[in-house]
Order: sequence, then C-alpha cells, then structure tokens
Amino acid sequence: MAKLLGGITTSHIPAVGNAIANELYEDPYWKPFFDAYPPIHKWLAKVKPDVVINIYNDHGLGFFLDQMPTFAIGAAHEYHNEDEGWGLKPLPPFQGDPKFSWHIIEGMVADEFDITSCQELAVDHGFTVPMQLFWPGLGDNPNMPRAIPISANTVQHPIPTLKRALDFGKSLGKAIRNYPEDVKVVVLGTGGLSHQLDGERAGFINREFDEMCMEKIVTDPEALTKISRHELVEKAGAQGTEFLMWMMMRGALGEKVNVLNQNYHIPISNTGAGTMLLECVD
Ligand code: DHB
Ligand code: FE
Repeated sequence: MAKLLGGITTSHIPAVGNAIANELYEDPYWKPFFDAYPPIHKWLAKVKPDVVINIYNDHGLGFFLDQMPTFAIGAAHEYHNEDEGWGLKPLPPFQGDPKFSWHIIEGMVADEFDITSCQELAVDHGFTVPMQLFWPGLGDNPNMPRAIPISANTVQHPIPTLKRALDFGKSLGKAIRNYPEDVKVVVLGTGGLSHQLDGERAGFINREFDEMCMEKIVTDPEALTKISRHELVEKAGAQGTEFLMWMMMRGALGEKVNVLNQNYHIPISNTGAGTMLLECVD
C-alpha cells in the first residue's frame, strides 16, 4: 500500500527561481530564506519519496478567467513549465503518474468532491519553484520523484473556504493511503504566507497572523476553518489566500504531525516566506 510520509510547505515566489538560477544562496538578502532548505533536503534524501503531490494555485496560466476550476488534478504523463517570468532557462518536463492520479480522482469524486481532471496541464511558478527548492537540479537529481499537480482557485472569487480546503485534504489523504501500490508519498502545500501584490495595500505583510497560522496548522487546523474568506483576505492580503494550499496539504496528513523543521522570514520580494516540514504520525 502507499505510505504518506509527510507534508512540506513553502512560499513559491518567482524571484526565488531567479535566485536559484544565479546561485544566490549565501547572498545576505537570500541566506535567511535558503537556510530553511538543507534540513529538508536531508530528510528527503533519507525517506526518498517516489511521488510528490504538489498542491499549488495556478496564477492564470493553466486556467484563466474564462474557465476556472475550483479544484483541478493533473492526470498527465508529464508537465511542462510555461511560466512567463524572468527569462530564465527552460526547465525539463516533470514526470507524472497518471495511474495514481486517476486513483485519486476516482476516490475523491466518490467522496463527493467535484474534480476537474487534466490530461494536459501547463504549470507555473506555483508548482515549479517548490520543486526547484526541494529537489535541486531537478531532472539531474537522482531522488527526483514523479509529480502530481493539484491546483485550487485563488484567482477569481468565489474561492474555496478554509474548511473545504481542509476537507479536500482529508479526502486526498484517504485516497493516497488506499492506493494499492507500494509507493512513498509526500504532499506539498505551496504559496503564502501573507502578501498582497496589487491595489492600495500592495506590499501588505502580517507577521502576527502568519505566525498564528504556522502554529495552529500543526496543533489545531480545525480552528483555522473558522476564518472566513473575507477575513483571510483582510488578515493575509489578497494573495495570502494561498494559505488554502497549506490547509489542503494539512488535511491529507491526518490528526497528529511532528514538526521536523520550520522557518519564517520577511520579506522575500513582497511575501512573508514560511517553510515547514511536517511528518505524519501513525
Ligand atoms: C510574489 C508572490 C507570489 O505568491 C506570486 O505568485 C508572485 C509574486 C512576490 O512576492 O513577488
Ligand atoms: Fe503566488
């Protein structure tokens, strides 16, 4: 049977892709951010997941305002980066696992989640930056797992509630655990924490709220479901709604988790950058 090892969160700020391309790991601006990742590399090298389920929010690349699925799951053989940003060198394609994708889609639709299944899906920085952070070298990294992207809508209201995101994760976790193949799985929650990129509050960051979210997501994620979507926008900023991905990841992990590593640093670009490594307890 499949085994869910744990979950990892990270912000997915596009400037990070540029910093990686230029190897700015020791640069004073970047070092407090990049220092969060070596312990995670060590853990990944030890546990060696076969599959990574990357929960991210598409930013208008794979889906646009004309067709906006609330929840979409990739079921492709491979996924190509088509992010427009920074003029960086192209990334190699990410290998998928369509058989596992369809198992998850079938299980979650049976659980009454209305999923958009994607046999083709272009991925953006929300997906690729975390992959670059956790598996340096990507295709050249011998531990690079197969990937299944899951995207939730944070672009066009109405976005999902925090409760729906956590419940989505619970159903996802169930589908992962009852997959009959012997594969080891990690789930990523990417995006956040607080940030607002446009409008009157551009540049808004809320350390106190971010720290509360990082604590409660470990000890009492149900409490976070009491936060309304409007309150989330108010407290975390318009793009801070990406915290929904963290809730989806957390739901999959089950009741208890061990925190193996965590880091919070502001600002990276316009964002409160949070990183957490959570191990499943079961
Ligand atoms: C930034 C953060 C994001 O989540 C994003 O999608 C784009 C840019 C930023 O802080 O620059
Ligand atoms: Fe984003």
